[in-house]
Formats: sequence, C-alpha cells, structure tokens
Amino acid sequence: MIPTRRDLHFKLLPSSVSNWHAKGPYVTQFTNAMSIFFPEGERFFIHTVRHYRDHIHEPQLKKAVTAFIGQEAMHGREHDEHNRLLNRAGLPADELERQVKKFLVMLEEKLPPAAQLSITIAQEHFTAIMAEIVLTDPRILAGADARLKAMWRWHALEEIEHKAVAFDVYEAVMGRGIKAYALRNTSLVITTLGFLSLVLYYQQRMLKADSHPRSWKDFGAFAKFMLISPALLPKLALPWLSYMRPGFHPWDHDNRDLLKEMNTLVAKTKKYELQAA
Ligand SMILES: [Fe+2]
Ligand SMILES: [Fe+2]
Repeated sequence: MIPTRRDLHFKLLPSSVSNWHAKGPYVTQFTNAMSIFFPEGERFFIHTVRHYRDHIHEPQLKKAVTAFIGQEAMHGREHDEHNRLLNRAGLPADELERQVKKFLVMLEEKLPPAAQLSITIAQEHFTAIMAEIVLTDPRILAGADARLKAMWRWHALEEIEHKAVAFDVYEAVMGRGIKAYALRNTSLVITTLGFLSLVLYYQQRMLKADSHPRSWKDFGAFAKFMLISPALLPKLALPWLSYMRPGFHPWDHDNRDLLKEMNTLVAKTKKYELQAA
C-alpha cells in the first residue's frame, strides 16, 4: 500500500468549533482537545521517520515514507486551521499547542532516535484503530458540520492508508527481535496512557474557557459516549491489544475496503475550496 499525498483544504467555518457535537460540550471539547495535539504531533512523527529515511533501501518503502511525510504535513496544516478557529472562539488552543511543542521538543532532545520512532509507531497504531471507529460509527462525529466531518474522515482515511509505513521503517532498522518487541510495546503503554490523560486534561482546560452552559447530564452523556454507546474505550481495547502479539503487522487487519470512500470525499472537499475561492 503506497499512500497518496492529497493537498486538501476544508475551509472550516467558525461555527464548527464550539459545542458542535450532538452529545454536548464534553464530547465536543474532547474531540477539540485531540485536534490540539495534531499539528505538533504530526511534525514529531515526520521528524522521527525522516531521521531513518537514508537507512531505507527498499524502493517501495522509500516511496511510502515520502508519501507518509506529505500526508502528515497536510494533516498538521488542516488541524492547525481548526485550532486557530478554536483560539478565535476564546479557547486556549495557542497556549496548549505551545505546551505540546515544548514536550515533544524535549523528547527529541532527550530520547534516542529508535525510542522516538517507537513512540511514533505506537501513536500510529492508536490513530489507525481510532480511525476505523470514526469511519464506521457515525455517532462519533454526530452533529458536526459537513466540512468538519469531512476533515476528520479524510484524516482517518489517510491514517489507515499509511498505518504501516512508520512500522515498516521501525522493523527495517530495529529488526524483529526481542529488543524491538519490548521497546514498541513499552512505548504503546506509556504513550496511550500519557496521550489519553493529556487529552482529558486539555478537554477540562477547554471546558473551563468555553462559555456554553453545561450540567451533570452533559457529563453523563460524555461518560456514556466513552463507555457504553458508542463505547469508544471498549471498542479500542481489543485492536489496541493486538499490537502486543509477537509478529504483529498493521495490515494483519486488512481494512482497505474503507478507503473506497476517498474519491467521493475528495470531490466534496474540492467544492468547499471552490466556494471559498
Ligand atoms: Fe495524521
Ligand atoms: Fe499517521
């Protein structure tokens, strides 16, 4: 699977950032909090994979790495647009993004390149399994306007398209031995716990700054969203664990069928670009 870099602009509307989710402010800000991580997170992923580009000799993988870098750069750019709208709506996106940047620059300075790459492949696994849920369960983005929905679906589709690229680079440079296995699994546990805790913290920071009223009922709706219906966390559990299997490869779970949506999505997005021109 060689990914394709698509230069799409979603031209998001200011109305698409605040309290847009049908399940209320907690779910809205949980999703917005995820977006805070993407511009700097994608830059970190690119940095960790690019470091090994010259170590890759297999032409197909080299090509896939270039496309991976292109796709992640586009994701970062579009989420940056989204985050600027969050900031304009009075949410602390700039401040939180600066924190993410500081933390990731610290990781780049302190950790060896292989450990950095293991963080990338762990996050790529987490993103790819989230992406499948986003694409297959309409409740995840219920209430979002069409452009915001299109942006998240595009990101999800490309995450599936390139889900094995960083992993293949990791195996090419680290091999499949016990050391490579231990490092990637340790990184999965640490990055998942760290990422989810920070998203919940950032959700709180956004809620604090958000002027929309909220109640315990809204919190109940969020708890239900995470645990019962659509049950984001239980749905993530088994695919997350599959990473621990010795010999695991992201394409063991072949979900390329989902990519059929891409052409329609690209055509729809071109219309937003034309409308904004
Ligand atoms: Fe991405
Ligand atoms: Fe990715």
